Amino acid sequence: MSGKRGTTLSEEQFPVRQKRPFILSKFLYDADKGTVMDRDSSSWAKILGFYSIFYGVLAALVAVCMWVFFQTLDPRIPKWTLDESLIGTNPGLGFRPLPTEDNVESTLIWYKGTEYENYKHWTNSLNEFLAVYKTPGLTPGRGQNIYNCDYNQPPPRGQVCDVDIKTWEPCTQENNYSYHKSAPCIFLKLNKIYGWIPEFFNDSSDLPETMPKHLKTYIEQIQIKERHKMNTVWVSCEGENPADQENIGPINYLPFRGFPGYFYPYQNSEGYLSPLVAVHFQRPKRGIIINVECKAWARNIHHDRKERIGSVHFELLID
Ligand SMILES: *[C@@H]1O[C@H](CO)[C@@H](O)[C@H](O)[C@H]1NC(C)=O
Ligand SMILES: *[C@@H]1O[C@H](CO)[C@@H](O)[C@H](O)[C@H]1NC(C)=O
Repeated sequence: MSGKRGTTLSEEQFPVRQKRPFILSKFLYDADKGTVMDRDSSSWAKILGFYSIFYGVLAALVAVCMWVFFQTLDPRIPKWTLDESLIGTNPGLGFRPLPTEDNVESTLIWYKGTEYENYKHWTNSLNEFLAVYKTPGLTPGRGQNIYNCDYNQPPPRGQVCDVDIKTWEPCTQENNYSYHKSAPCIFLKLNKIYGWIPEFFNDSSDLPETMPKHLKTYIEQIQIKERHKMNTVWVSCEGENPADQENIGPINYLPFRGFPGYFYPYQNSEGYLSPLVAVHFQRPKRGIIINVECKAWARNIHHDRKERIGSVHFELLID
């Protein structure tokens, strides 16, 4: 039955189109029928009309979405903070100067102390990095927001603390950061995390097992002599292995052995610059690679060498 019906449908209802040879120029524009691509002008007008409305509505939707998005955004406050954000709550530690750009994987600071040509990469790189600290005008808003902070004088909201690197003798530009004396200065910086508040090790009777002895002794002395400085994120640098510890020689920290607590929390105030600690390696052994590990110390900084959090690793090789 159905088969029969199927045959009755064919010719009258769906007449076979007259086959014409396909000619491209005629398809694109047929002067006889007045069609373009086989459609006449009213058909094109409909298509045009449809797409202009379609894209118009699309553009309006995008505009509404963007407007809603920007309404909920404060340019000074990141949308996701601390636990919610991917960076998390554990600040990383970074060092400067960095090896050349074509060698991003490397953390080796290698130079010959006797040749300016040889160590100028490192000192130039530090000059560049420290320029914003020397010249407040280079950071927008820093000039008018700068405040002379101290432990008992934290900055008012919106103002930023000064980082006075000019007096960090011998780690100054004028002294070539002491590179020419084969006693280089390396600068440490704690990565900024919006709203992060350090939990200080501010009681020398309650310091962690893993903290190096020399730092513990130092904190004990600070507690006796300069108690008001206890709210500090402490810093330690050490040779990684026993051989490195022997070769690393005495280390001095400028201006102080940590990041002062009054720099935190970082609230993206205009002109903010992270505090720095200059680590002066005073007599590192020459001609041998020395593995150095520096750590930042607060109760809420966890150390993980592999994940590179809370600590930083680099090597020194001074010929
Ligand atoms: C630092 O390096 C410069 C080369 O630009 C050199 O002229 C100067 O003597 C060096 N400074 C010191 C204190 O050695
Ligand atoms: C010590 O640090 C804790 C946690 O950071 C802080 O709450 C406390 O006020 C500090 N103590 C002093 C005496 O500043």
